[in-house]
Amino acid sequence: MNNTLRFSEIAGVGHYVPDRVVTNADITTLMETTDEWIQERTGIKERRWFEEGKDTTASMAANAARRALEMAGLTPDDVQMIVFATLSPDYFFPGSGVLLQRELGIKAPIPAFDVRNQCSGFVYSLSMADQFIKTGMYDTVLVVGSEIHSSGLDISTRGRAVSVIFGDGAGAVVLRPSTEEGHGILSTHLHSQGEHAEELIVKEPGSNRNNRVQYVVDNELDMYPFMNGQNVFKHAVVRFPQVIKEALDQNGYQPQDIDMLIPHQANLRITQYVQQKMGLTDDKIYSNIQRYGNTTAASVPIALSEAYQEGRIKRGDLVCLAAFGSGFTWASALIKW
Ligand code: UT7
Repeated sequence: MNNTLRFSEIAGVGHYVPDRVVTNADITTLMETTDEWIQERTGIKERRWFEEGKDTTASMAANAARRALEMAGLTPDDVQMIVFATLSPDYFFPGSGVLLQRELGIKAPIPAFDVRNQCSGFVYSLSMADQFIKTGMYDTVLVVGSEIHSSGLDISTRGRAVSVIFGDGAGAVVLRPSTEEGHGILSTHLHSQGEHAEELIVKEPGSNRNNRVQYVVDNELDMYPFMNGQNVFKHAVVRFPQVIKEALDQNGYQPQDIDMLIPHQANLRITQYVQQKMGLTDDKIYSNIQRYGNTTAASVPIALSEAYQEGRIKRGDLVCLAAFGSGFTWASALIKW
């Protein structure tokens, strides 16, 4: 440990998605919807659903983390802190961070904690990890986003506006001090606007009931996600360009300097709008929502991992991560790879 302010870089990135592919055609057997509606409104063709007894939020995170550690040339015992972004933790408490520590077999009593910032949870977590490295408190921080949505969706016509969108999966990065000056995380930008808290929400089991257990027994529908889709969409298309521009401005860059924009995979229409607004060509923005749906906190690290594996991110590239979602919360990170 030292006390010099320094930069951090992504030394490893990895992802894991469950084997079970659920196509739009599969979904049409479960509710009144069509492949055309889903593709036209969201761009999604298929998503992954977990297998009970095989995948857990923590085990998927561990699979992604092992791949990220391998790329970084490290082992789980090198990890000095875990930051775990999820809205679908294994337990109501404790958080999944400690379960990931156990899954990875890390015996040292390192700190582990969860970040509950939904779609922007991974970028928020990355920012937190960055601060710990910048100050010199830790050298190796594991940041993951992992979600199991499929077990908590209203898989019926009643819930179709929400349930066709979400998918399961996990992504992870290993953050280390930068090895070369000018490379690494240049800045992160975090925002929230709590007046919109109920626009995208899972209300129960909320603590503000005299008897919350009885309440959910009587009101089980409130345990399903609710989304005011059109309003969320309206805010998303404003906040994404805003927070990307904020990151560029702070570092003296223009939109055309971006080599790869990795947006949270909320909806292909939102991504296309952001692309057009920022004036980016197809090769400078990454989309995989077609294959995975919206995996909230996992979507940015899964997309980053795939973009890297496909050779679309190289040393020296300017990479921007951006997210928007429930809260509302939104965030960006600008990285010189
Ligand atoms: O990740 C966090 C951030 N999340 C987002 O950014 C999501 C933002 N919102 C959206 O992506 C879109 O609002 C949705 C994709 C969720 C929904 O698209 P929409 O164009 O806003 O549709 P809508 O909810 O206004 O519904 C339009 C129509 C309705 O029918 P009527 O009332 O016009 O007859 C719905 O009942 O489409 C119907 N509908 C469906 N039809 C077939 C809703 N869901 C479905 C469905 N299949 N799955």
